[in-house]
Amino acid sequence: MQIISPNYILTPDVLLTEQSIAFDKTIQKIAPLEELQKEFPQAEHIQLEKNSLLMPGLINAHVHIEFSANKNHLSYGDFLNWLYSVIENREDLINGCDLSCMDKAIDMMLTNGITSFGAISSHAMDLEACANAKQNVVFFNELIGSQASMADALFTDFLSRLDASKTIQRENFHPAVAIHSPYSVHPILVKKALEIVKNEKLKLTAHFMESQAEREWLDSSSGDFKQFFTELLKQENSVTDAKEFLSYFEGYETLLTHAVETNEEELETIKRNKHTIIHCPISNRLLGNKTLNIKALNDKNIRWIVATDGLSSNYKLDLFEEMKISLFMHSSAPLLKFAQELIKGVTINAADALGLNAGEIKEGKNADMIILDLNNTPNDELAIHLLLHRYNISKVFINGKLEKGTL
Ligand code: BEZ
Ligand code: FE2
Repeated sequence: MQIISPNYILTPDVLLTEQSIAFDKTIQKIAPLEELQKEFPQAEHIQLEKNSLLMPGLINAHVHIEFSANKNHLSYGDFLNWLYSVIENREDLINGCDLSCMDKAIDMMLTNGITSFGAISSHAMDLEACANAKQNVVFFNELIGSQASMADALFTDFLSRLDASKTIQRENFHPAVAIHSPYSVHPILVKKALEIVKNEKLKLTAHFMESQAEREWLDSSSGDFKQFFTELLKQENSVTDAKEFLSYFEGYETLLTHAVETNEEELETIKRNKHTIIHCPISNRLLGNKTLNIKALNDKNIRWIVATDGLSSNYKLDLFEEMKISLFMHSSAPLLKFAQELIKGVTINAADALGLNAGEIKEGKNADMIILDLNNTPNDELAIHLLLHRYNISKVFINGKLEKGTL
């Protein structure tokens, strides 16, 4: 057992002062130091510096570790041009990211206070790196393929990757399933995968309504995807539409990434099924896509969380940067309230969506905690300043273990 005494604790709903935390793998008790020392006389005591803030470790629900080699290989500004550049550079990017490259990306997240992440794994090249990560991991094995003729082979490959991820024997590593997107996965495959997801109660995610090209292709087999599908995949028409795609997820809470092109009817379906939207503002901006309409989500009480996406559409894996960019992109949102919502979107709400016992400084939760060195006394506008100043993160605890920093 250890007791830690910061100046301030952000839970993240309230800011506590004069409180300490007794923890082992989980948070045992939050109370004044004297009370904790009486109850746990053997506990080691960690006294933190002036203006130290302890808050929950951050949760990045959507990242592509396998694409971490990208620096300037990919074309930005237009979704289809980006996709063509991914296809053209795929081999170089995948082969260019060996274990040490993936470890570096995972360590970048740790340095930036990310204590849990959802890895979207296209090829299982990242399985070893994710299995050995210090963080809690939801490992989303991705299924892709819109051609019916390829369905069997692709499903066999998907199953073998899923099985391989199930052999990882460590606490806080959760095998899960990603359906790439409505335009890229044939309904036969979606249905087969969802059967497994439902039987085995796995976490489930999909990219959904990311680009105008996706909207037009799914609605009317037209737009920028027409040439892509006709030339590369010999398909004249979309294999599904958005309504049919969402119907497969009926009754199964899913994390839908991007959702910047969703219409009213789809939002109603998303709300009814308690799906969560993953907001990746930097990725959306770089790929020439729209900004997520968060007001529409809030009006309908649809949960949204914040993630970085991969280094294939970002320049760092830092949720503080992501939240700051979102704060500026949503320029008509009420500043303080929105900053507070963003912080919940990388802590308590992200934990709930991923099914993790984390994201909150509360008795019984995993001791995933980060220490920030604030420069001065926090005030009522702390949430705004957390996003603006990118305070130094001096310590990172995951399941009670110090994984970054020194005591
Ligand atoms: C496919 O495998 O069918 C596919 C992959 C990426 C984009 C579109 C389709
Ligand atoms: Fe993604």
